Amino acid sequence: MNEVKVLAPATVSNVVCGFDCLGFALAEPCDEMTIRRSKEQVVRIINHDDYGLPTDPTKNVAGVALNALIAAAGLDHGFEVEITKNIKPGSGIGSSAASACGAVVAANRLLDDRFSKTELVEFAMAGETLASGSRHADNLAPCIYGGFTLVRSTEPLDIVSIDFPPLCATVIHPQIEIKTSEARSILPKEVPLKEAIRNWSNLGSLVAALAQGDYGLLARSMEDTIVEPVRKSLIPKFDEVKAASLAAGAFGGGISGSGPSVFMLSESESIAESVEAAMRYVYNPTGIPYNTYVSIIHSEGVRFV
Ligand code: HSE
Repeated sequence: MNEVKVLAPATVSNVVCGFDCLGFALAEPCDEMTIRRSKEQVVRIINHDDYGLPTDPTKNVAGVALNALIAAAGLDHGFEVEITKNIKPGSGIGSSAASACGAVVAANRLLDDRFSKTELVEFAMAGETLASGSRHADNLAPCIYGGFTLVRSTEPLDIVSIDFPPLCATVIHPQIEIKTSEARSILPKEVPLKEAIRNWSNLGSLVAALAQGDYGLLARSMEDTIVEPVRKSLIPKFDEVKAASLAAGAFGGGISGSGPSVFMLSESESIAESVEAAMRYVYNPTGIPYNTYVSIIHSEGVRFV
């Protein structure tokens, strides 16, 4: 086998009260990637889109992730990777994670799957750190494991897959730029104990709600009094989108990753489509261009095609 093609899915991280640790995989949108061995011990990147992402492997998340894998495997060859990004960079739905994860999962297949999923997340984290300036795996873990994942620890990596009931996500991506590094820099450095207690109670309940399929508890647990109140000021009409989505039947939701995308979770595709219509109704008068997505939570991460 000399060539592998993969679809690397968008992911939603944080999931309201799971800042930097909880995430889930969507079925779409996905980046399309083809990877093949190359004789030289270098990574060559070919971008098939108009985003102007770097082709220098030391500045491209896929390149950095592949270099980490090459070093760990002690390879005497490199890889050529073709990337068609369908997940817009800076959207808040794990665009850089998809590039990094797609690259290492595909390369690993060319190496007869010698690395574990956790090891692949570790390599991808080298790329993600380049993109966001901080070491977190809340998009990477679901992108590789699929479904809902909780990153208990990044050093060492400890990833927990969480069972979940049927759920559908609606995402609105306003076409405004929010840099993850800036969205992180405005966050409080310290959290009052009272708020911390409220948050870990919600996160524990959210995980239990997913595992038990308890939609009522899921709805009650999607509350964030630490990050969302600060970051929502970066997203026009955030409160209105949330209120309209809840009125349309969503269980709850919030900022996807560091934004600007906003996600909502619903029990079925038909409710998720009503939520999409409600989001559009709020955004149409703003004149801000946006995309929307409706997708099931996908139990698989990077998929082979
Ligand atoms: N958990 C991260 C954040 C996701 O919210 O800053 C973005 O990489």
